[in-house]
Amino acid sequence: MSNDTSRLSIELTINGESRTVRIRPQDRLLDLLRESLGLVGTKEGCGEGECGACTVLMDGLPVNSCLVPAFQARGRTIETVESFDSEKLIHFLRSGMTQCGACTPGVVVTANWIRANPELADSFSLRELMAGNLCRCTGYDGIIDGLSDSMNEDRGGSCCKS
Ligand code: FES
Ligand code: FES
Repeated sequence: MSNDTSRLSIELTINGESRTVRIRPQDRLLDLLRESLGLVGTKEGCGEGECGACTVLMDGLPVNSCLVPAFQARGRTIETVESFDSEKLIHFLRSGMTQCGACTPGVVVTANWIRANPELADSFSLRELMAGNLCRCTGYDGIIDGLSDSMNEDRGGSCCKS
């Protein structure tokens, strides 16, 4: 039986908006997003930090929301897949980065983080940077091609591979 007196109130910023949310002590950030706020774009895959389906940005860095206790999000800034401009996904769709779609929200969050921090690609390959997001369908080529095309266009280059 739920006991509302055991709930805690925390304040945080979600997708640019200040929110106060009541959480249970055992809630994960993933539960806060999906159940308390209805932001169901963030998916649960493995639930144990292996697949990356639940990736969101916390203070600008990708985290597995299934591993973050909800109370640790207090005072933080969270960005979910819902915060990203769908127009910016066109290269991913063209490249065939999604099939069943289970991994797609997490892939989009990580890919947009890389696009916002393109200097990361000076030190790591795109495959290394995307290694925390597992995909059982695409073989990763479409994901990497879409990210590469997007970054090329961000740099003012032409898009895309014919
Ligand atoms: S559901 Fe969080 S890493 Fe798989
Ligand atoms: S598109 Fe199916 S798991 Fe990635």
